Amino acid sequence: MNDDYQQFVLLIKEKTGIDLSLYKEAQMKRRLTSLRDKKGFRTFRLFYEAICQDEKLFNEFLERMTINVSEFYRNAKRWEVLEQKILPRLLRENPRLKLWSAACSTGEEPYTLAMIMSKFKPLKDVSILATDIDQAILERAKVGLYPERSLKEAPTEAIRNFFHKEPIGYRVKQEIKDTVSFKRQNLLADRFDDQYDLIICRNVMIYFTEEAKHELYHKFSRALRPGGVLFVGSTEQIFNPAVYQFCSEDTFFYQKCKKGTS
Ligand SMILES: C[S@@+](CC[C@H](N)C(=O)[O-])C[C@H]1O[C@@H](n2cnc3c(N)ncnc32)[C@H](O)[C@@H]1O
Repeated sequence: MNDDYQQFVLLIKEKTGIDLSLYKEAQMKRRLTSLRDKKGFRTFRLFYEAICQDEKLFNEFLERMTINVSEFYRNAKRWEVLEQKILPRLLRENPRLKLWSAACSTGEEPYTLAMIMSKFKPLKDVSILATDIDQAILERAKVGLYPERSLKEAPTEAIRNFFHKEPIGYRVKQEIKDTVSFKRQNLLADRFDDQYDLIICRNVMIYFTEEAKHELYHKFSRALRPGGVLFVGSTEQIFNPAVYQFCSEDTFFYQKCKKGTS
């Protein structure tokens, strides 16, 4: 059983470039075993062969391996710190911010950033890259239609200004959508652009092994300009930020050290 799973991990890596061994194993194996059983395959080998021939099953596999829960203004107090402290400093240093929401899921996070940026700049001057490993999720993000529960932390003013209420939910206004470019990307395998002012990467690192996290913090650090900021999730504190040339600017905000301050 264990060999069968290990073999599956190797085959999936070979076929798709997705390395399941970089995710915490017990959790990943549990999730994939339950999908495999539900689909009626006795072994991971048979499950793999079916995945190769059936795109729908491959998408289900992707959906099961990732957890896509998100919300607008998730942990709202942190977004207040971003608005009141972090962004004003970043904008003083560089008026044309390079912004990235990494592992953006269904889009609530980059759209929240756009709503906050509108307080500083006309939206036509705001541009945000948003990436995720799961293409199907990105297609949903582009549609921009959400159930009411996704907005439970959003300020009333943001709901009034940036959503159209429709019979089946709330749709993000076009001017917000226009600020975000969605792109498929695997954080654990693909290369990053550089000179970012702000990278938001929240609630995905918890699924990765310690080694994968360590490598990823290095990649994020290299992708930021000195003074740029990595904003992480509310259970994802970095224990030894200096190793990655980060210093803590506020809880869950890490500034890439400027020369001479590391
Ligand atoms: C729980 S959601 C977090 C969404 C959002 N950042 C938030 O905090 O609300 C985790 C997202 O990470 C994505 N993900 C998982 N592994 C990834 C990888 N290797 N590269 C890029 N995205 C990944 C999943 O597809 C999922 O959409």
